[in-house]
Amino acid sequence: MHFRQATTGDLDKILTIENQSFKNGIKEPPQVFLERIEVFSEGFLLLETDESDPIGYICSELWSSEKDLQVENLSLGHSIKKVHSCQGQELYVSSMGVLPEYRGRGYGGLLLHQLIAKTKRNYSQVNSVLLIVSEKWPAAKKTYLKLGFEQIDLIPAFFQPVDFKSEQGIVMRKKLT
Ligand SMILES: CC(C)(COP(=O)(O)OP(=O)(O)OC[C@H]1O[C@@H](n2cnc3c(N)ncnc32)[C@H](O)[C@@H]1OP(=O)(O)O)[C@@H](O)C(=O)NCCC(=O)NCCS
Repeated sequence: MHFRQATTGDLDKILTIENQSFKNGIKEPPQVFLERIEVFSEGFLLLETDESDPIGYICSELWSSEKDLQVENLSLGHSIKKVHSCQGQELYVSSMGVLPEYRGRGYGGLLLHQLIAKTKRNYSQVNSVLLIVSEKWPAAKKTYLKLGFEQIDLIPAFFQPVDFKSEQGIVMRKKLT
């Protein structure tokens, strides 16, 4: 297993993981992923096996301060260009997914751990990590709790999957030492 930064040439492989990870209405469009790679490829990691295409991805943004913690910035499909700053002190994890056949082996936790460690090495001012997770994603919640994230807010009906009831968003933060 190894990690590498995503390039725009990886878009189709990232979309394959995205399509198998999220319901319709929650999947983010290709343009959003392309912009994330173009603006902050250092914060967009892929996990690969030696013999396969990527089996997982994680992507992120650096946010300046808590004043950016508004629902519109958290919202799916927001533009990284409006919120990202290389001087930002908060790492916002915008999405993460692992192919279903590779789940439950610790890879999700590894991806997040690797992203945080790499960001801290390259951007020493970063002192916290933020993300939003659906109340209906127990594996993701467990992964974050195990890594020390704590709930800081709840946003009713944040996730609106097509043909399913809306889901509460749980905002979680981990302070870095
Ligand atoms: C979230 C996700 C990336 C985690 O990846 P992963 O490689 O399976 O993660 P890990 O193996 O590190 O940990 C998953 C944990 O959740 C647990 N889990 C899995 N399904 C679960 C369920 N239905 N209920 C409770 N816990 C569950 C696993 O047992 C494991 O815990 P353990 O290590 O104590 O056994 C992956 O499940 C995924 O892609 N899900 C769909 C997309 C998603 O929800 N992304 C998160 C966006 S915020």
